[in-house]
Amino acid sequence: MLRSHHCGALNENNTNHEVVLAGWVQKVRNKGFIVWVDLRDRYGITQLVFDEERTPKSVYQQSLKLGREDVIQIKGKVIERESKNPNMPTGGIEILVSELTVLNASKTPPFTIETQTDGGDELRMQYRYLDLRRKPIRENLIFRHKVTMAVRNFLSQAGFIDVETPYLIKSTPEGARDFVVPSRMNSGQFYALPQSPQTFKQLLMVAGFDKYFQIVKCFRDEDLRADRQPEFTQIDCEMTFVEQEDVLVQFEAMIQHLLKETKGIELGAFPRMTFATAMEKYGNDKPDIRFGMTFGELNALAQNKGFNVFDAQELVVGIAVPGGAGMTRKEIDGWIEWVKRPQVGAKGLVWVKCHEDGSYKSSVDKFFDSEDLAQWASVTGANPGDLIFVMAGATQSTRSQLSALRMEIAEQMGLRKPDEYAALWVTDFPLLEWDEESQRYHAMHHPFTAPKKENLEDLEKDPSKAKANAYDLVLNGNEIGGGSIRIHDTALQEKMFGLLGFTEKEAQDQFGFLMDAFQYGAPPHGGIALGLDRLVALLGGSETIRDFIAFPKNNNGRDVMINAPSALEDAQLEELHLKSLPKDFS
Ligand code: AMO
Repeated sequence: MLRSHHCGALNENNTNHEVVLAGWVQKVRNKGFIVWVDLRDRYGITQLVFDEERTPKSVYQQSLKLGREDVIQIKGKVIERESKNPNMPTGGIEILVSELTVLNASKTPPFTIETQTDGGDELRMQYRYLDLRRKPIRENLIFRHKVTMAVRNFLSQAGFIDVETPYLIKSTPEGARDFVVPSRMNSGQFYALPQSPQTFKQLLMVAGFDKYFQIVKCFRDEDLRADRQPEFTQIDCEMTFVEQEDVLVQFEAMIQHLLKETKGIELGAFPRMTFATAMEKYGNDKPDIRFGMTFGELNALAQNKGFNVFDAQELVVGIAVPGGAGMTRKEIDGWIEWVKRPQVGAKGLVWVKCHEDGSYKSSVDKFFDSEDLAQWASVTGANPGDLIFVMAGATQSTRSQLSALRMEIAEQMGLRKPDEYAALWVTDFPLLEWDEESQRYHAMHHPFTAPKKENLEDLEKDPSKAKANAYDLVLNGNEIGGGSIRIHDTALQEKMFGLLGFTEKEAQDQFGFLMDAFQYGAPPHGGIALGLDRLVALLGGSETIRDFIAFPKNNNGRDVMINAPSALEDAQLEELHLKSLPKDFS
C-alpha cells in the first residue's frame, strides 16, 4: 500500500503515530521558515507541516517546490496543531513530515480546485476530471451512489429482479427522436438506441419474471434543459398482475423510503390529483404544491363587463401573489415585461392590488368596481395585502403562461425551498393528444398504455375523450417518474396503433414482435420509470441534473472533454456504408 491512512482519517487519537499518506496538493502556504500543505484525497484534507528546524533539510527544500495538484506521498508523525480547526474532522492535528516523494507533478490546473472555483462552465466541462476533484461535485456523485444503492436494496428486497436489456435495438417511441447506430454487417441498416427499455420490460412480463427493475441508460435526441440530458438514467420497473393502485402503493413506499434514508425526512401519503385538476388549478401537469397561488377562473365574473380584452377570450384566469399589494408600479411593469418575453409569450397582465383597508386598485378600474374585484379576490383566494395577476387568452396557452409566472414569482419569493419536499401523483391523463401539425393523434404517454376500462367504447366514438391508465410522479414541481398499466391484448394494441395513424403493415413491421408475444399468454402488467438523475438532484437540493452526472453533455449535446460528437474518417464511413452520403453529412 502507498499509504497507511487516508486524508480524512486522522485526529488527536493518532497523536505521535508514524503514518504514510498519499494525495493531491490542494494548497501550499509558505511563511518563510515553515510550509503548510493541505493534502487532499476523496475522504478529506490533512494538513502537512514542513519547517526549517524539525524537517530534514532536503525534505524541507523539496517542499518549497511543491505546486497545486502535485500527487505526493509523505511519511511523518501525527502532532497536535497549535491552532485547531474545529470545523474539520482532521482539524486537531497535522503531520510533521520526514519523507516526501513526488509521485507525479501536475501542470498548474486551469481553475482552482476549491468549493468555490474561478473556472467557468465550459472550462470545467473540458477538464471534468479536475472539476470532479472539487468537493461539492464529488459529494454529489457519492450521494448518487447512496441513492442508487438504496434503490437497489429496496427493490431487491421487494422481490424485483434486475435484468439487463439491450442497447442496440429498434426504435421505441417515447416522444423524442432516436439516436441511431449504423450497422457494418447489415448495409444501409441502423440500430436505434433505446429511449427506454419499454417493450423489453413488457416482454419480460410475458416471460413470467413478475417483477423487474433495471437502473438503465436511456437515449433521447431532444432539446436540452437543466433537467434533460440526451443520455440519462432511469429506474425502470415493471410488475405483473397489478392494477394502477398496486404500482402507486409500491413506488410511493420507495420514494418515502429514499427520503427517509437519504434526508431523514418522513413524507406522508402522497396526494393524488387528476390531470384535469392539475391543469385547472396549476396550469401544469407537474405542479409544485409546496406553495399556494392556485388558479382562479374568472370567466363568469370578468367577461361581458365592457372590457373587450377579456370578452372574446376562451379563458380569464388569475392568481393571488401573497403580500404583492406592496409592489411598486415599476415592479409590476417588470412582471408584465417578463410574461411578454418570447419564452413565455403572453400578451400582458391585468393587476389588482387588494389593500389592507379593504379597498382595491387595479389596472382595469374603468371597467370593474370594488364589488367585482372583491369577487375576483374571493375566487383567486387573495387576502388583504395581496396582488392579483390576471391573464386572458386560449385556455391551454394561457394556463401555461400563468403557470410560468406562478413558478417564477415563487422562485423569486423564496417559496421553492430546496430542502422542503412535496410529492404527488398525477393521474387520469388523456390517452391521446391531437397534433395540429401532423393532423393526427399522438399517445400522451406511449402507445403501449391501456385506456381506462370505462373508456373502451370511446375509442370507437370519440377517442379524444378516452382517459389512460397512466400516472406521473411529481416531486417539487418536477416530473420524476411516469408509468402506466399496459395493453396486453393484440387486438387492442392493433386498434391503438390504428388510432395513432399506423397502417397495419407499419404496426406489424415495427411492433409485430410485441403483438405476437401478446398471443402467447401475456399477463396483465404495468409499471413505471423514475428519472434517477432528476430524483438524485432533487434529493441533493438542486434542479440541475448535470451536477449529479459524472460526465454530462453541454447544452448543445456535446462532450467538450472528449470532443464528441465528431466526424469519422473516410475509411470508417465506408465500412459503415455511409460513404455515399454527402460530405457535410458528418
Ligand atoms: P417517461 O418518458 O415518462 O416514461 O420517462 C420516465 C422518466 O424519465 C425521466 N426523463 C429524463 N430525465 C433526464 N433527461 C431526459 N431527457 C429525460 N427524459 C425523461 C423523467 C421521466 O419522468 N417507458 C416509460 C415508463 C413507463 O411507462 O414505465 C418512460 O420512459 O423523470
